[in-house]
Amino acid sequence: MDEGTKSMIVFFLLFVFSGKPAEGQSLLDVCSTCHANATCDDKSDGSGKVCNCKYGFVGNGRTFCQDKDECQIGSSKICGQHTTCHNTFGSYYCTCLAGYSPSNNMAVFIPNDGTHCQDIDECGITGQCGEGAQCRNLEGSFDCSCQVGYKIHNGVEPFNPLRDKASCKVVNCGPPALLEDTVLVPVTGTTYSSVATFICDEGFVWRRGDNSSVCGAEGLWSKPDMVCEAKCGPAPFLANSEVVWHNRSVVIHRCVAGYHSWRGSNVSVCGSSREWQKATLRCIEIKPPINHLLIFNESCLQWKAEKYEEDTEVYKVTYTGSRDYQRSFYDKRKRFLSSKADQLKLCLGLLPVTNYSITITATSAKFTASVTTNTSLPVPPGPVVYYREFDTPLPTLSLRRSPNTLDLISLYQVFVLPVEGFMMFNCSSPAIALPLSTLKSPAEYITAQFEVHRVGTEMNLTIGDGLLYGGFYNAPLESGKNYYIILRAVSQWKSAFKSSCVLWAKVTATSYALRVSSLSAVATIGLVAVVIWGGYSIHWCFKKT
Ligand SMILES: *[C@@H]1O[C@H](CO)[C@@H](O)[C@H](O)[C@H]1NC(C)=O
Ligand SMILES: *[C@@H]1O[C@H](CO)[C@@H](O)[C@H](O)[C@H]1NC(C)=O
Ligand SMILES: *[C@@H]1O[C@H](CO)[C@@H](O)[C@H](O)[C@H]1NC(C)=O
Ligand SMILES: *[C@@H]1O[C@H](CO)[C@@H](O)[C@H](O)[C@H]1NC(C)=O
Ligand SMILES: *[C@@H]1O[C@H](CO)[C@@H](O)[C@H](O)[C@H]1NC(C)=O
Ligand SMILES: *[C@@H]1O[C@H](CO)[C@@H](O)[C@H](O)[C@H]1NC(C)=O
Ligand SMILES: *[C@@H]1O[C@H](CO)[C@@H](O)[C@H](O)[C@H]1NC(C)=O
Ligand SMILES: *[C@@H]1O[C@H](CO)[C@@H](O)[C@H](O)[C@H]1NC(C)=O
Ligand SMILES: *[C@@H]1O[C@H](CO)[C@@H](O)[C@H](O)[C@H]1NC(C)=O
Repeated sequence: MDEGTKSMIVFFLLFVFSGKPAEGQSLLDVCSTCHANATCDDKSDGSGKVCNCKYGFVGNGRTFCQDKDECQIGSSKICGQHTTCHNTFGSYYCTCLAGYSPSNNMAVFIPNDGTHCQDIDECGITGQCGEGAQCRNLEGSFDCSCQVGYKIHNGVEPFNPLRDKASCKVVNCGPPALLEDTVLVPVTGTTYSSVATFICDEGFVWRRGDNSSVCGAEGLWSKPDMVCEAKCGPAPFLANSEVVWHNRSVVIHRCVAGYHSWRGSNVSVCGSSREWQKATLRCIEIKPPINHLLIFNESCLQWKAEKYEEDTEVYKVTYTGSRDYQRSFYDKRKRFLSSKADQLKLCLGLLPVTNYSITITATSAKFTASVTTNTSLPVPPGPVVYYREFDTPLPTLSLRRSPNTLDLISLYQVFVLPVEGFMMFNCSSPAIALPLSTLKSPAEYITAQFEVHRVGTEMNLTIGDGLLYGGFYNAPLESGKNYYIILRAVSQWKSAFKSSCVLWAKVTATSYALRVSSLSAVATIGLVAVVIWGGYSIHWCFKKT
């Protein structure tokens, strides 16, 4: 039975035992007018009854007794810190604020039982903040922030997982940025504090600095400060070449325009010794495979071969000769020459007074060069004669010749020289003095002339027979006089004139018809010297005694 019920029973007992009819009317009246939520009490001065609103109600006790809101004075005042006050009819109760728990472990309490609200340590519950977050307990609540290596996601720090959507996500630096001239050692992870190591690229050596990068808490890789330097330095230089492509360990070269290399590699490689192993190509000027082609000594060729030094080149030399003065003439020949030399000489047996055109083909290089040479007029070979002495005004002289390629442009001229002590005959003088010319006393004259190609292999000529030979008058010899007979072979082409002379005979022109043997006449004539000036040779002819 609670206090209210007890007081109610007391009230009814008092009502029953204090019943006096007169006075009891007024007594009853007071009490009967009390409000349902009031009690009828004795006045403190004992002068009667009075209606008092029950505990928890306020009012006049008769017409109204209204519930008193105990909570209105403030929950912290009535219930204590961190509480909520709940008013009830005639009473109230307390509960703890969220984040606090009552010390009596009951859901509700009234403060006068000693209960108070204490902070709940939410961080005591594991996993409150989620993975990678750390929990911080606060008065009545908690908050979360990310651990090192984790980053806030969907919100800001600090956060409350019950209230916010935020959470902590593991930091990921992603693939590390590449570093120039280095190679990245495969990384083991990309999360916080992962390490990426760089090693020098081929052709580079590590000089100084840190060669690793660390994934930081902010999700960024630290920058490695390693210095790399090229192993072999700048690309090597090769004369007359250019660099087509290069990196730090490989260089590709090429000969500049106008130059080429026969053999050799075009790649330089940076060696382990930190030196370039140079490309072996040698750039040399591009020249024709046959160059500086020259003729020397009229029928010899010289040229410079342009080829790889150890190679053998086969040259085919073709030459054709022609002659304006001999339409039927055609000299076509071929020669092969195989050589490793780079300076070549080749003499061809070219015929005289011929215009030759010569072509040389380097057969493997497939290159042809040509040149012309016009061979000159040589001294004509004289015929074979036997020197004889005659003692007659009509000596018959004979000669034998061998056919010669220059016959068409050659002549035989027979000179008669009256013997007058010391004489000089100029074989190369083209001047021809005719005996019937205006000259007063011709020292010498041509008595006969023959075109060589009309002369057979053998020929006889009688000096002084009075006939014309080749337009020259073979004048009779003056009796009693002595003569030398000189035979001159002449070759003439255009402005060229070449001659050779031989002393053919000595004649004593006796006036009588007596024939004396040449042998007997010898003793009668003194020593006479005849000097013959030839174009190329000098013949000293002495009369034998
Ligand atoms: C008296 O108080 C009770 C609650 O204690 C309430 O239910 C009731 O209505 C009140 N009576 C009147 C007449 O106000
Ligand atoms: C990395 O750097 C260290 C010094 O920090 C050095 O000794 C090591 O050789 C370097 N490693 C490479 C692969 O370059
Ligand atoms: C250079 O190029 C060569 C050939 O392409 C290659 O093998 C080498 O790895 C490269 N070196 C560097 C340092 O780039
Ligand atoms: C380098 O040489 C190779 C073969 O020796 C050749 O194929 C290549 O074309 C050359 N490169 C250059 C740039 O000359
Ligand atoms: C030309 O030939 C002559 C002899 O026939 C010789 O003495 C001379 O040395 C030669 N000249 C050259 C340049 O070979
Ligand atoms: C060679 O050619 C020249 C010029 O055409 C010519 O004058 C000359 O007669 C020729 N010589 C021969 C031997 O054919
Ligand atoms: C030789 O003659 C030809 C004509 O047949 C001429 O063209 C050429 O120039 C001449 N060569 C020499 C070296 O005189
Ligand atoms: C011979 O004749 C040639 C041509 O006329 C001349 O050049 C030369 O000087 C002469 N020789 C002598 C020794 O007189
Ligand atoms: C030249 O004369 C000799 C006799 O002296 C004779 O035997 C010879 O047949 C003659 N030759 C010619 C070509 O007439």
